Amino acid sequence: MIQTLDIEQLRAQTPGCAISTHFNHSGSSLPSNAVLAAVTEHLQRESLYGPMEAAANATGLVDEARADAAGLIGAMPAEIAFSSSGSAAWGLAFAALPPIAAGDRILVGRQEWGGNLSTMQAAAKRAGARIETIPVNEDGSVNANALAAMIDDRVRLVALTWLPANGGLINDAAAIGKVTRAAGIPYFIDAAQALGQLPVDVAAIGCDMLKGSGRKFLRGPRGAAILYLRKAFLETLEPAYLDVLSSAWGEDGPHVRTDAQRFETSEKPIALLLGLGAALKQARSLGVDTIRQRIRELSGQLRDQLAAIPGVAVHDLGTEKSGLVSFTVAGIAPQALRGKLAQKRITIAANGIPYTPLDMTARGLSEIARASVSYLNTTDEIDHLCGSVAVIARQAA
Ligand SMILES: Cc1ncc(COP(=O)(O)O)c(C=O)c1O
Repeated sequence: MIQTLDIEQLRAQTPGCAISTHFNHSGSSLPSNAVLAAVTEHLQRESLYGPMEAAANATGLVDEARADAAGLIGAMPAEIAFSSSGSAAWGLAFAALPPIAAGDRILVGRQEWGGNLSTMQAAAKRAGARIETIPVNEDGSVNANALAAMIDDRVRLVALTWLPANGGLINDAAAIGKVTRAAGIPYFIDAAQALGQLPVDVAAIGCDMLKGSGRKFLRGPRGAAILYLRKAFLETLEPAYLDVLSSAWGEDGPHVRTDAQRFETSEKPIALLLGLGAALKQARSLGVDTIRQRIRELSGQLRDQLAAIPGVAVHDLGTEKSGLVSFTVAGIAPQALRGKLAQKRITIAANGIPYTPLDMTARGLSEIARASVSYLNTTDEIDHLCGSVAVIARQAA
């Protein structure tokens, strides 16, 4: 259901909104007071009662966070593991796949996150396997038909970064899922930029694994991430390591858990998970459809205003676009632009090749400026950003 957001109130409940004009929600968004309180109050309980004792009393809240994470993406709580980062979550799932062998193939989207690519490259090099890039459609999105034509019995994995880190493209994750499902090939989705920004339904997408960090559009604290593993799929995975939680020792030896917590450890940052839980509750109560609609409107406006500034080029691919807006300004490097805007307390990011190496290289880009929009942003903030970019663009011309 689309509801109206009380932006003033949401901003008033977010201390960072009063400090800067934040356009780096895809790097890390601004946590709300509720998230901050969930984290700090638990840390206080740890100091007063002892961390183990405080954790025992927080079990119900961690379970709630797990249920909310599952609810956010249409999964079951038993299919959710918490991890420390999106990359750690992705790596845990990848390392648990059956070993790849010489001649095996891994097919990836052109926008694959650099860290995932490094992990796959290292494994492929060890095994003598190949990583191949799936061709793209005219709008830059991964081409599902081209993927279907590449499938053979040597393909071990299809990996897609749903929303890339370097711009507004939204891949058609469900179209890719149709192909992988028909072929019975594991399908991993990096949803770092989707969680809390786009409605997600893992069953409709048809993925086996999906992960995302809590600190981005969900506005959780740093250091907590969500890993989804489809139930029947996770039972086939062998974690690279186990501990006393993921595999309790019984009289007859170790018992590996059958739920996604086979990827968790007994030691975990309870305070951060409670913060993530508060962020999940907020996103769900606002409604991700509502969030999506506001981000679509604001980012569309930002793109139009930036494109109208002499010397500015907007680089976003895709037909339907996300809240990540990528651009360059003639005569000034993105990193220098970021620095100049930071002096005015306007926060954007500047990304080079390492985050999205295949896509940046294919498009001949070396660096882009990235302004990413949250529902918290306002049209006044967009005017402030664009006015400042226009001044810098004039000076750089
Ligand atoms: C698409 C994508 N994948 C992965 C990551 C890395 O996530 P983390 O820093 O939580 O490992 C990012 C971070 O920006 C991202 O945009």
